Amino acid sequence: MALPKCISLLLFIVLLISSRAVAVSSSSSSSSSSGDNDCGIKAVYSFGDSIADTGNLLREGVDNTSFSSIARLPYGETTFGYPTGRCSNGLLMIDFIAKDLGLPYLNPYLEKDANFTYGVNFAVAGATALDASFFAEKGMMIPFTNSSLHVQLGWFKSHLKTICSSEEDCGERMRHALFMVGEIGGNDYNYAFFGKKPIQEVATIVPYVVGSIITAAKELLDMGAVRLVIPGNFPIGCIPAYLTLVNSVNPSAYDENDCLIDLNTFAMLHNVKLQKAIEVLRLLYPNAVIAYADYFRAFLYILNNADKLEHTCKFDLFMFNALITDCFEGFNKKFLHQACCGGGGGYNFDAAAMCGAPGTSVDRNPSSFVSWDGIHLTQEAYRIMEKQLFGGGYTYPSIELTKLAKCQ
Ligand SMILES: *[C@@H]1O[C@H](CO)[C@@H](O)[C@H](O)[C@H]1NC(C)=O
Ligand SMILES: *[C@@H]1O[C@H](CO)[C@@H](O)[C@H](O)[C@H]1NC(C)=O
Ligand SMILES: *[C@@H]1O[C@H](CO)[C@@H](O)[C@H](O)[C@H]1NC(C)=O
Repeated sequence: MALPKCISLLLFIVLLISSRAVAVSSSSSSSSSSGDNDCGIKAVYSFGDSIADTGNLLREGVDNTSFSSIARLPYGETTFGYPTGRCSNGLLMIDFIAKDLGLPYLNPYLEKDANFTYGVNFAVAGATALDASFFAEKGMMIPFTNSSLHVQLGWFKSHLKTICSSEEDCGERMRHALFMVGEIGGNDYNYAFFGKKPIQEVATIVPYVVGSIITAAKELLDMGAVRLVIPGNFPIGCIPAYLTLVNSVNPSAYDENDCLIDLNTFAMLHNVKLQKAIEVLRLLYPNAVIAYADYFRAFLYILNNADKLEHTCKFDLFMFNALITDCFEGFNKKFLHQACCGGGGGYNFDAAAMCGAPGTSVDRNPSSFVSWDGIHLTQEAYRIMEKQLFGGGYTYPSIELTKLAKCQ
């Protein structure tokens, strides 16, 4: 049945007005929040730890670190065929971010003679938000790398000096760059927890960790950055390394996803404090976009939709070879908390025999696993996390990478 004419006309007018209102508010917010001449991301600068490291720790030296096996296969086996220093079987979120922006993969800062035209990756596996001296003073376990966030920021400043010709040029580069400030801070807690510190004690360092992240973000904003993404922590109670460490026999220690409640609550504590601090930062820098990337909820999205995620396996005979390498059939629900590569046990994680060490084994189908080595994710899980973060609403305010790539 057709609507009476007057009602449909009214509806039309209401729609017209509301679409105008949306158009006006979105254009005014984009001009006020991003400054003029804002279109296009020409470079990405990434700070962080093993979640984003594309080869820095490998160049610092992995000997005598708990990550020594990242220098060997099967790390990198899926996409590269050799270890690149990435803590995964293939690509990381930062690689998918670069792809979405139409840029090549970011080179690690410590790769001498690398081309840094499109940005630099300063992230170092094992790095902390706080300096090593902080942990020494507190009598806590010392990180195996000294390349903290503060040190990485120092690298960025000296890098910037070498590439810009004038202050104006520097400002222009800052305005056209995307800054990934993290994920960082996860290791500050990892060292403490794996050093057997109780949660209450680890909680006392949260304000310092958040403070360090915010200080770094503020320095970048003061230097002229207008687009920052600051990620929070993962739900660490769902990570095989932690599930193995705690290994509680008490069913009430686990939530409906079989994750450890106390550790997820701890990660949320960090994330809530971080988001509150980001809100303050936004008031101080109203012309910048300072987005929070919700790694916590994006990861839970994967657990909750593991077998329903889009299938990329199409049996097209002509394209069979091309497609088979990209084939993704969803994650195996039986293995959501098991490492694809590891030294055995309920979660296939053994801190004394990390993936790649003698006696460990790797499943032949990494794309059916969320966890690669019990600490880090598989390429497939990182791909979906990145997609959810930048296209599924888990980064707010939202940052649409493909749009930023296209506008010139
Ligand atoms: C690693 O440890 C071994 C034995 O403790 C030592 O001989 C070697 O020099 C160390 N290597 C590095 C790079 O520190
Ligand atoms: C780096 O790569 C860009 C783009 O491919 C190129 O234009 C530039 O000349 C390269 N720089 C160096 C120093 O090789
Ligand atoms: C980190 O710094 C401390 C103190 O300066 C030093 O003793 C230690 O050797 C450094 N570690 C690495 C891995 O460079």
